[in-house]
Amino acid sequence: MMLAILSCEVAGVLQKMASHLLSVFCVLLIVCYCEPYNILVISPLAGRSHAILGDGIVRHLTNAGHKVTYITSFPDNMSHKNLTIIHASENKGVIKEQMISIQSIMDKDFNLQDIGFLFIMFMENARKAVSIPAVQELFKDNNQKFDAIVAEWMFSELYAGIPSIYDCPLIWFSTVDPHWMVLKLIDEVPNPAYSSDCLSSDIPPFSFRRRAQELYNQLYGLYLQNWFVNGMEQQYYEQYIIPHIRDKSKPVPSLNTLKYNASLMLGNSHSSMGGALKLPQNYKEIGGYHIDTNVKPLPENLKKIMDNAKHGVIYFSMGSNLKSENFPKDLKEGLVKMFGELKQTVIWKFGEDLPNRPKNVHIVQWAPQPSILAHPNCVLFITHGGLLSTTEAIHFGVPIVGIPVFADQFTNIERAVNKGFAKKVTLSYTMAKELKEQVESILSDPKYASKAKELSLIYHDRLVSPSDELVHWVEHVVRTKGAPHLRSPALMVPWYQKLYLDLLAVVFAVILTVLCLLWKLYSRLFKKSNKNIGSKKRN
Ligand SMILES: *[C@@H]1O[C@H](CO)[C@@H](O)[C@H](O)[C@H]1NC(C)=O
Repeated sequence: MMLAILSCEVAGVLQKMASHLLSVFCVLLIVCYCEPYNILVISPLAGRSHAILGDGIVRHLTNAGHKVTYITSFPDNMSHKNLTIIHASENKGVIKEQMISIQSIMDKDFNLQDIGFLFIMFMENARKAVSIPAVQELFKDNNQKFDAIVAEWMFSELYAGIPSIYDCPLIWFSTVDPHWMVLKLIDEVPNPAYSSDCLSSDIPPFSFRRRAQELYNQLYGLYLQNWFVNGMEQQYYEQYIIPHIRDKSKPVPSLNTLKYNASLMLGNSHSSMGGALKLPQNYKEIGGYHIDTNVKPLPENLKKIMDNAKHGVIYFSMGSNLKSENFPKDLKEGLVKMFGELKQTVIWKFGEDLPNRPKNVHIVQWAPQPSILAHPNCVLFITHGGLLSTTEAIHFGVPIVGIPVFADQFTNIERAVNKGFAKKVTLSYTMAKELKEQVESILSDPKYASKAKELSLIYHDRLVSPSDELVHWVEHVVRTKGAPHLRSPALMVPWYQKLYLDLLAVVFAVILTVLCLLWKLYSRLFKKSNKNIGSKKRN
């Protein structure tokens, strides 16, 4: 009997414990198990650095458990069980090889600073991306659903039409420090008196001339967008996107409405690297997210070279786009000779081996850049100043000598110089001498290295890591159905109202009316008194 009661009690207790455990388990399950979302990431530009940024977004989203469909020109970079890749093979032709060859840039064959040229080139990039058969198939598929679309902004806003096919929110991704062309989409254009255009290499405070130039850049850009770009985008929207919206019997909004309807903008920026421009609530800084925080160990041979470098290592890389075979011969030889005169060890990432190399100069075809920069003996980074490279320099706290070549590189290097951890060298056939001077001046003055360390501290001193932030905000947009609470009220106010031109018009009208009335009154009185005088005279 006792035993039966006892076993009953035990069973009861066990049951209670089990139900407790079950509820704890359920709670845990709800906390840990976030619903996987279906996300489309569009980053088809066939530039290596753009692909690294696109891959980074995809990597963090898939690692967080989400299903991602990714439109990219580099389909072999990644694989994951939650990842579907759409190969934008036709986008490879958009950036022509010779356009980014160092020789043609030095000879100024193409002007990659020309905004009109960029608009046309990147418009073609966007058109190709939406027109490829695999993407058209994706649009056509009635079973395909997306919870959000992340699209890279690259001088085209055509992708803004795509969310209407799926009735889902849009998240812009901006690859550089925030500038007027992207801020306009989620808030308003910033004041050109203290914010640089995305192609300008100047940083505030501006001189009088510069300030006028920045204003001109904005007005000219707006003019091009309104008179050329928008028309073409409208045409492609009608051709490649609207049929699919109609197919699904959904309303067809105007492209202009959709451009300004993104929920958020993720920006590859951070105040440690760029400026401290005021930003709207729907702009989220995630600069540095592409860097793998698990730095891989160096390959044995490189590790040995770096460990044994008594005077430190100078790492030289002109990025992934500039091919070594296009380096002018004289320049190559001049650089090798110059590096040979330095006491530091030089690791040069270069596509070909160079004959008669001095002992301290090592050529590597492929370089694990983060692992090199992370090595304590790395004392200097000579770079073309691509944003990824300048970001990595700050991440690892290494000073730089920048040789900007095109696009945002001038701005990045200008900023780095201004922040005090860099020197700039102008790309030319005879730059070896200048490069040597700048290398020596940076290495002989400890203030550059200590500034790089200080910025690195600012960069790392964040509440959450940029990758966590990325995942959080994408999920937040889905969870809150487009995050309408973050929408900037500035988007609803036309420019003439912001400048109070309507009020000015009213004030003018009132003043004019009053003046008119006064004039009438005066002339009436005056005429009357004139008449009176006249009649008096007649009397
Ligand atoms: C704008 O975005 C919101 C949130 O994603 C969406 O609900 C709404 O339908 C969009 N507006 C238009 C005109 O498509």
